[in-house]
Amino acid sequence: MNNSIYNNSFTRFNALKMQVFHRVSELSVFQQELQEKGYSLGFVATMGALHEGHLTLLRQANRDNEASIVSIFVNPTQFNNPEDLDKYPRRTDEDLELLKAEGATAVFMPSVEEMYGTQVQSEEIDLAGLDQGMEGEFRPGHFPGVATVVKRLFEVIKPQRAYFGNKDYQQVLVVERVARIFNLPVEVIGCETARYPSGLAMSSRNFRLSSQGMEEAAIIYHEMTWASQNYQNFSPAKLRKSIQEHFAESSLDLEYIEFADARTMQKVQDWQDHEAVQVFVAAFCEGVRLIDNRNLYP
Ligand code: PAJ
Repeated sequence: MNNSIYNNSFTRFNALKMQVFHRVSELSVFQQELQEKGYSLGFVATMGALHEGHLTLLRQANRDNEASIVSIFVNPTQFNNPEDLDKYPRRTDEDLELLKAEGATAVFMPSVEEMYGTQVQSEEIDLAGLDQGMEGEFRPGHFPGVATVVKRLFEVIKPQRAYFGNKDYQQVLVVERVARIFNLPVEVIGCETARYPSGLAMSSRNFRLSSQGMEEAAIIYHEMTWASQNYQNFSPAKLRKSIQEHFAESSLDLEYIEFADARTMQKVQDWQDHEAVQVFVAAFCEGVRLIDNRNLYP
C-alpha cells in the first residue's frame, strides 16, 4: 500500500486527499513526510467561517510552498466578551469544502482541550506596547490570547511561512513579535486585505449583516480613504473629530478612530513625527463589531 499523502503527478505536491487532523499527535507523520521530501509548509491560522479573505492567504501559501495547512480554531482566550465568543459563526462543513476546492494540503481542527488542556488561559508575553491601543484598548486580553494561541500553533505545526491578513494589522505586528522573541523559525507574511467592490473588508462577521448593513458598512473604508486623501489639511485630532462627525450621521456606531505609527502602534499626535501611519476603525453595524485599517501614508 502506498502511504504517501502526495500525488507526484502535480508539480506542486498537492495532497491526493485533504488531510484533516484533530490532534497534535496526528501532525507528526505529516511533518515527517514533508521533512523527508524537503518540502516547505505554509500555514494559515483561522477561526473558521471562511471567506474569500482567508482564501487569498491560502492561495499565497500554496504559491510559495509545496504544502499548506489551515487551522480552524475559535480561540476562547482572545474573546473578552463571552457573548461574542458564543455568537462567533461556526460553519465547519462549508469551511472544509472551500479548503478542499482551494487545494489545502491539510487542515488542523483541534478541540479547546487539545490546545489548552484544563488551563484555558493566556500566557504572559511581553508585547512591547504593540497591544496597547485600538483592539488592545477596547478588547482587554485579546492580544495575549492571540499571542498564546499563535505561539502554540507555530510550535505544533512548525511551518516555514505563516500568512496573516493586514486586515488585522495590529495582530500581524503582535505575531511577528511572538515569532521573534521565542526564536520560532517561521517567516510571518502580512497579506493585503480582501475587499468587496464597495471597499468593505471581507470578514466572518459580515455573515451576520443584512444586505442593507453590508452597504452601510462601506462607510468604514470610505472614511479611511477620505482620511488618507485629506490628512495633510488637518491635525490628527481635527481629522479624528471630522470622521467622528461623519459617522454620527450614519447608521453605524463608531467605537474608535485612531491614527497609529505603522511600526510601533504608538498613537500619532503630530504627522511629522512618523514615517508611516495607519488609520484604524472599529464600528458597530446592526450590532456586529467590524474593524478595519489602511495606510494613511505613504
Ligand atoms: P480570523 O479572524 O479567522 O482570521 C484569520 C486570518 O485571516 C487572519 O490573519 C486575518 O487577518 C485574515 N483575514 C481576515 N479577513 C481578511 C481579509 N478581508 N483579507 C485578508 N485577510 C483577512 O485572525 C484570527 O482569525 C485569529 O485572531 C487567529 C490569528 C486565527 C488566532 O486565533
